[in-house]
Amino acid sequence: MGERIFIGVAWPYANGPLHLGHIAGAYLPADIFARYHRLKGNEVLMVSGSDTHGTPITLRAEQEGITPLEVVERYHAQFLESWEKLGIGFDLFTHTNTSNHTRVTQDIFLTLYNKGYISEDVMLLPYCSTCLRFLPDRYVEGTCPFCGFASARGDQCDNCGKPLNPADLIVPRCRISGDTPEFRESKHLFLRLTAFADRLTEWVREHTYWKPNVLNFTLRFIADGLKDRAITRDIDWGIPVPVPGYETKRIYVWFDAVIGYLSASREWAKAKGEPEKWRDFWQGDCKSYYFIGKDNIPFHTIVWPAMLMGLGDLNLPYDVPANEFLNLEGRQLSTSRNWAVWVPDYLERYDPDPLRYLLSANMPDTGDTDFSWREFLRRNNDELVATYGNLVHRVLTFTYRSFGGAVPPHGELDVASGELLDRARLTLESIDGLLYQCHFREAVRAAMGLAQEANRYLDDKAPWKTIKTDEAASGAALAVALGVICGLKTALYPFLPFSSQKLHRALGFEGDVEAAGWCFDIPPAGRKLMPPEPLFTKLDDSIVEEEAARLGLVNAG
Ligand code: MF3
Ligand code: ZN
Repeated sequence: MGERIFIGVAWPYANGPLHLGHIAGAYLPADIFARYHRLKGNEVLMVSGSDTHGTPITLRAEQEGITPLEVVERYHAQFLESWEKLGIGFDLFTHTNTSNHTRVTQDIFLTLYNKGYISEDVMLLPYCSTCLRFLPDRYVEGTCPFCGFASARGDQCDNCGKPLNPADLIVPRCRISGDTPEFRESKHLFLRLTAFADRLTEWVREHTYWKPNVLNFTLRFIADGLKDRAITRDIDWGIPVPVPGYETKRIYVWFDAVIGYLSASREWAKAKGEPEKWRDFWQGDCKSYYFIGKDNIPFHTIVWPAMLMGLGDLNLPYDVPANEFLNLEGRQLSTSRNWAVWVPDYLERYDPDPLRYLLSANMPDTGDTDFSWREFLRRNNDELVATYGNLVHRVLTFTYRSFGGAVPPHGELDVASGELLDRARLTLESIDGLLYQCHFREAVRAAMGLAQEANRYLDDKAPWKTIKTDEAASGAALAVALGVICGLKTALYPFLPFSSQKLHRALGFEGDVEAAGWCFDIPPAGRKLMPPEPLFTKLDDSIVEEEAARLGLVNAG
């Protein structure tokens, strides 16, 4: 029997549109991995949802003068549409504002509380006497003590990236009233991370196969000294704290968000009509992968594992293949400075597969990478259209026209054909291994290398010439090329699901690519092909300037 794979993907805050950095950082690699495992016949559960709590949501609501719920509903709907159009195939994409999630979160909170892993302490927190409330970190602004940036936030400086506490800010001020807050005592509940330090260290050290950036970051984080973390907040938007005396406070958004992985799995099982099925993935033999951007690492390699250790009967993460960042035209993406390509905008103008392809070929899986429209154009026109698309199109149209729309027989294979097929088999095996290890960039590049090889083979064989003198040789070359194309359809499916599905049909298969599985065969002689259509569209050079203008760049082209 195959493997069981749980895939958790970072829960995006439902407070604004997604940009390409989100896609390259977490959603695309997760989807590639899920499609790969489904092709291999493994049992996959991939979940995520909108992160609907915390100050990212309330701040946005206050800025727009609408309710937090309205903010959440707008962006949750937009996310669902983006997944659909981009082909990000979640088994469930829910949100944290469900009664199921509230129940699961409060249960876990109480279990950890009763086991002594959550305890009370007092904090000095900024209180605004104009607004008559405690100010969450993000509601306080001031000068950064590290770099002098004048509008550093109470949780982090956007200029130098250092994490901050409101008390660190020089001349702090309330973002709503502008007044200087005073610091008052407030009691809160803390997750006792200190109780897990030894177990965490030991557990992390066992994971020698984690990416070096994830492993080193985590070990350093522990070595710097774990601190107990407040998991309640003085706000009114969020999940109620199930402990007496905390009626006016709410559970910290990060505490409930990571629980989403579990609550979503339960929601999925219930909707499927097998309410206990989530246990296969959480208590049975299963590898859990968490796809996230690098800024979320400590929550997935320390906080969530500590919570799971405290609960005691649930699977810990097997791997957390966090990606680095995607830059845009050489500069760091920034939502606040509107330096981003927004997913809904992209999808209004272009097809999903060219983006998936570019972001795969330039995936920030081992270091930061860059998105530029020039590169997008080049990879679309030179690689998708001129290399892969051209290979497919010339083979399919020529076979269709000259061999009555059916696969010709290949007879006995000559040396060049045997070599190409061997090379294809080896490439597919290597892609299989690379995908298994989440080396997506290398895998997609290997596939494109094979398409190039097949083009060279066809140029040499020139079946469109030999058809006049040696029809059998012409047919054999086409049959061999069709075999390679069939393999490419499989290997590229995780990256280019829409094109592979189209190609699957053109090659005369029924049903969908996933059901056909990870396969590579020369289609049988006589198999009927469908009338071919081009897989990709050439883009005009002018889009580089158009998009530069949209970004507010002059002369970027
Ligand atoms: N909402 C967070 C962010 O956008 C990510 C939450 S991931 C989860 O940075 F693990 F908490 F689910
Ligand atoms: Zn700073």
